[in-house]
Amino acid sequence: MNLDAFLTFLGRLHPSVVHFPIALLVVAALLGILGARRPTSDAVLVLVRLGAIAAIVAAGLGWLFAEHDPPARGLRDALLWHRWAGVGTAVLAVAATISVGRARRAGKPAPVLALLVVAIGVSWTGHLGGTMVYGEDFLTEPFREKATDASPTVEPGPVEESAEEVHAVPAEVSFQADVLPIFAKHCFDCHGPEGPAKAGLRLADEDALFEDVPELWVVLPGQPDESLLLQLVRLPPDDEDHMPKEGDPLDEDELATLRAWIESMPPRQAGG
Ligand code: HEC
Repeated sequence: MNLDAFLTFLGRLHPSVVHFPIALLVVAALLGILGARRPTSDAVLVLVRLGAIAAIVAAGLGWLFAEHDPPARGLRDALLWHRWAGVGTAVLAVAATISVGRARRAGKPAPVLALLVVAIGVSWTGHLGGTMVYGEDFLTEPFREKATDASPTVEPGPVEESAEEVHAVPAEVSFQADVLPIFAKHCFDCHGPEGPAKAGLRLADEDALFEDVPELWVVLPGQPDESLLLQLVRLPPDDEDHMPKEGDPLDEDELATLRAWIESMPPRQAGG
């Protein structure tokens, strides 16, 4: 087992480990509030200590997770907020641990405000992490009026209409026959049907490219130049974002095939 695989494994523990600091620090704050008039109890001190340790571990694993399993580009902003909220919360939890320890030694009540700030910080961080997995509106979604299929219905336009334009686009490219072999040769080590799916991306199934929200699509039907996938394979090979990340760059023919595939693609709706 190589180091990279091991670190990737550790990083993937992040989503399960994060529940510990959340639970511990929230309960520590609750106990702090309940005992606000009494000297700090051992329970609060133990909980906040364990919570701070768990927060540091969770932040560290989260860092590994982001480095070794980078999320899709469209989630990078969300990652930035989540990452620094997590690091900030871990630091605050350590500070709270110190001040709870002092209060305990002095026989004073636990610093409720500090505990509350930490509890809110850890919950907010968890929420930010959740939005990366479930999307921005996940929490409020149940309360929103169901848009009774507000998506614009596509009118079956006049058949004759744009016959000429249709001929202007390149001849139909077949995903199976033309595109898949290119992906299989250059991309499957990291984006194959099995094994790692770097950036959460698998390139073996055309429909799967459109399962996420459109903001995350790496291919925009009919818009090759706006499509992240084509942009990345066209970057100079020494650019750090260039795809394939390892191995030979695509040749002119392969680039032209991908362009023609995207150009001739019919419009898509989210959901595959
Ligand atoms: C050696 C591994 C590797 C190979 C081979 C590879 N990629 Fe990637 N790819 C990655 C990694 C890692 C990322 C995550 C972003 C980063 O680190 O730059 C990524 C990200 C991407 C993204 C961005 C996804 C997003 O939503 O941000 C696209 C598009 C992509 N690759 C396309 C391709 C294509 C097309 C090929 C083949 C021509 C390919 N990759 C080959 C490792 C690879």
